[in-house]
This record gives sequence, structure tokens and C-alpha cells, in this order.
Amino acid sequence: MGIGFAIITCSDTRGIAEDTAGQALEELVTKHTDWVVKSHVVVKDDRVAIREAIIAAADTGEVDIVITCGGTGLSPRDVTPEATKDACERDVPGIAEAMRIHSLAITGRAMLSRAVCMQRGKTLVINFPGSLKAAQENWEGTEEQFEHAVDMAAGKGH
Ligand code: MTE
Repeated sequence: MGIGFAIITCSDTRGIAEDTAGQALEELVTKHTDWVVKSHVVVKDDRVAIREAIIAAADTGEVDIVITCGGTGLSPRDVTPEATKDACERDVPGIAEAMRIHSLAITGRAMLSRAVCMQRGKTLVINFPGSLKAAQENWEGTEEQFEHAVDMAAGKGH
């Protein structure tokens, strides 16, 4: 089943060339022959800029899952969860819970992620952490459920 993804890396310091976590996520998506990355951008750790990037991606009508990457920690510049709440209507807490459960088996630092997962219309928005290792580990903990999640969001049921 085809899934369209958008990747939004949130960082004050990285540009697209330094975005190793975003590039790794792109590679992980495209390991599935019918999963496609429709767009990949880097935006500053700015609540309005991140909200606008989420809305722009979700409202293309081509993107089933928006992955944000970074900005979920405790530093004052980490505002990705707030921007996600600004852009979305409905909470999908189980995905963020699953990410932390999976990650806590690897590192106690997983409890420092404030990541959320929400829906804007039929589009899922999932906050991934920004380091390469953490992004890969969180992908491992969630990807298995993406097809069913996208089907349900589209109203296809079980
Ligand atoms: N999750 C996994 N699986 N592996 C990790 O190394 N790092 C944590 C956490 N989640 C980590 C993880 C750390 S140290 C932080 S601060 C938070 O993710 C938030 O990361 P972010 O600010 O890059 O989004």
C-alpha cells in the first residue's frame, strides 16, 4: 500500500546538507517500494515556521504522514510539540507512547522527549527526535503500524 510522507527537520543549526537524521528517515521510508517522500525541508526551531510547514505539507492532499525531526526536548528552543498542537486537531497518543516505550528499552534519555502524534484532517503528524540514532530507533518502533494507521485515517476501518 502506498504512503506519502513529508519530512520536516526542525533545527536552528542544521541545513539540508547536515540533516543526517532526515536523510536517514528518507532512506528508511524508501526501503518500502511503494512509500514515497513527497517533500523534505529544514525549518528553524520557530513555532510559527514549524506550524506553517506542517500545514503546508498536510494540506497538499498527497501526504499521509508528516514526520517532524527534532525539537522535542527540554531546551527553550524545542517547540516542535507546541507547533504540532497548533497545526492539528486530534491527539493520537498511542504512537508517541509506543515510541517512548520502545526507546526506553534502549536509553533512559527517551523520557526526555516531549514528542506528540496528532492528526490534521486525514494526515498523521509524528514528532521524531533529531539525532540520527534516535530517529532510526523511533522508526523501528513505529513503522509496522503505519499502513493500518493510514487506512484507518482514510476511513477504511480494520
Ligand atoms: N530515543 C531514542 N530511541 N534514542 C535516543 O538516543 N534521545 C533522547 C530522546 N529520545 C533518544 C531518544 C534525548 S537525549 C532527547 S533530548 C529527546 O529524545 C529529544 O530529542 P530532540 O530534542 O532531538 O527532539
